[in-house]
Amino acid sequence: MADSLQQFDLLIRNGQMVTAYGERRADIGVKDGKIVAIESDLGGEARRVIDAAGWLVLPGVIDPHTHMGIPIKDTTSADDFASGSEAAACGGVTTIFDFTVQEKGQSLKEALEVRLQKARDRCSVDYGIHVNVTDAPERWLEQIPELIAAGFRSFKVFSTYREAGMMVTWEQFRRILQQVHAHGGLLLLHAEDNALVESQTAANVNAGRLAPIYHARSRTAEAEAKAVKQAAEIAGELGARLYIVHLSSRAGLEAGLRAREQGVDILLETCPQYLLLDESKYRQPNGHYFITTPPLRTRDDAEALWQALRDGHIDTVGTDHCPFTRAQKESGSGKFHLTPNGLPGVETLLPLLYTYGVAEGRIALPRLVQVLAKRTAEIFGLTDRKGDIRVGADADLVIWNPNEETAIAAENLHGQADWSPYEGMRIAGRVEYTLLRGQVLVEQGEFVGERGKGELLRR
Ligand code: URP
Ligand code: ZN
Ligand code: ZN
Repeated sequence: MADSLQQFDLLIRNGQMVTAYGERRADIGVKDGKIVAIESDLGGEARRVIDAAGWLVLPGVIDPHTHMGIPIKDTTSADDFASGSEAAACGGVTTIFDFTVQEKGQSLKEALEVRLQKARDRCSVDYGIHVNVTDAPERWLEQIPELIAAGFRSFKVFSTYREAGMMVTWEQFRRILQQVHAHGGLLLLHAEDNALVESQTAANVNAGRLAPIYHARSRTAEAEAKAVKQAAEIAGELGARLYIVHLSSRAGLEAGLRAREQGVDILLETCPQYLLLDESKYRQPNGHYFITTPPLRTRDDAEALWQALRDGHIDTVGTDHCPFTRAQKESGSGKFHLTPNGLPGVETLLPLLYTYGVAEGRIALPRLVQVLAKRTAEIFGLTDRKGDIRVGADADLVIWNPNEETAIAAENLHGQADWSPYEGMRIAGRVEYTLLRGQVLVEQGEFVGERGKGELLRR
């Protein structure tokens, strides 16, 4: 080859490149971890060439919501950063955002340091950390500006889980939101009205109604909507942006959209479980496995969320990946209030959204990229590197083969959960390759990359 030809580390040829703006056939050249050229027919030499003819090339997925190894109900979610990030990569996810776990009496900075220790040299995809505030005396809130200055710009609170010592009151919520907003950060909220949740839970438990369906009856859509409304009012008064995690219901969605109409800067995230599963799962023999918070809802709720996703009203889809093994799920003897809450999901995010969103005609391909990568990158301050396929961006790419029909089977997934909420569901394709900063992490659906090389993303 002539010297004048470009030299690439990697060349992806003949793929159908999809961004949030549209799709076209393009070759993509990668050097030193970055995308350096995009052309319809790229000349040049490369150390490695991937022929992506017939396949889609998408930006690596960004999952804004995972819980690797967090304590819940006397146990710990089954994936740590090592296993969870490997599963993520196998599903085309190249960036995750996880959360600190703040113990009582522990400062926000100490909790962050502990979390960073757990991820460092173990996480195989790039990662950001949201700082979760569960203990909120003023002396800890004073650390917020410093954390933001150090690149930790997103914070999260729960308006529930009082029994677990994780709830903040609405007064504390106001103060935290004010502080985060004043210093240019973003606050995330798990929105459930705790008074309603506690009274409905107590009524069910006291009456001996402990079957899994009573999880849904104890943590209702009304409780979600009430908390969204309350939080949005405070955000509106403060003129602060607010991000609602794992929105699950039509009522919650409507509360969010009403606030938006009234000028509140409110961002909405939902999860595959609320789009694809419903509360009938709780009536199955293994119904207690599906206990997650917020609970699964009705088909009508799912329809409302799909519509909002299609119409651009929902900003992001995350997974709330928080897996427990069957043995862990059994530890509560099938009782809803004793079963550890959470579902696996990081590896099935793209396959499910592609199949039931794009292939079944609910959303367009560019919209998929928007909610799984582009918009997420914008919200969490990663647009200089992530969420798009453009010259100068990190070469975080997922190559999706839409020609192979597969089905979800827990035994083929890579996380620690030995079951999947989506077992047997048809998938219209499969991940062929996942690339992180130009490195091949996954090939033909299997992890082949170097482990623990994910980078911490300060923003
Ligand atoms: O039940 C769930 N989703 N567990 C993880 C913690 C949370 O509320 O997101
Ligand atoms: Zn939550
Ligand atoms: Zn969560």
